[in-house]
Amino acid sequence: MKTILLEKIGSTNDYVKAIKNPEEDLLVIAKRQTGGRGTKGRSFVSEKGGVYLSLLRLYPCRAEDSFSIMMGSALAVVKTLRVYGVEAKIKWPNDIIVNGKKICGILIENVFEGELVKRAVIGIGVNVNNPISKEIWEIAVSLKEVINKEVDIKTFIATLAFNLYLEADYNEYKRHLLFLGEEVTVITNKSTYKAIIDTVLPNGSLKLRNGEELFAGEVSIR
Ligand code: BTN
Repeated sequence: MKTILLEKIGSTNDYVKAIKNPEEDLLVIAKRQTGGRGTKGRSFVSEKGGVYLSLLRLYPCRAEDSFSIMMGSALAVVKTLRVYGVEAKIKWPNDIIVNGKKICGILIENVFEGELVKRAVIGIGVNVNNPISKEIWEIAVSLKEVINKEVDIKTFIATLAFNLYLEADYNEYKRHLLFLGEEVTVITNKSTYKAIIDTVLPNGSLKLRNGEELFAGEVSIR
């Protein structure tokens, strides 16, 4: 795997997606991003001190199994944080939460060819040493804040890159999920309502007690 380290870029996901006919996996890391992107068209604040990276993985992976890419990346972050003594949770589908606050967001962009995922761009932003601004202090946290210590960024990235190649395990993913069996607020683009989460199915959809199955990307929960 090739690695590229950039001082500053708009978005590491966009940088990787612009590469034509890649021949091997590629890891692109930026010290900061000026146009960091989140899920659902949101922006992702990416100040110096955080970890912003995109891993281009060449597959084939069957499209119906593509949730394993999401599970694998969420678990990779959980395992990396554990090295620092931090037990993180996953908020479906793949926000990483510590002490009720978001420490990491993941944006996966798959390139499909028929029934196959040909390659995936796995974009991960982790609040490591970066300051958390007042506006998001109530909902976001950094690793430095949690362990009260500055973190060596290179070691963090090396550990995360290694963990991104570990097998994704559905049961392990479920063990780390927040809100199973609990009532949450479900927000779709048409409505907002309360529902109890039953489980997450192996295909990645969220199953509610009322029998509904919701797909990631279409809804969010709170
Ligand atoms: C989210 O929380 O909505 C997902 C955030 C994903 C942010 C990462 S940072 C590296 C990569 N480049 C981007 O522009 N986004 C992802």
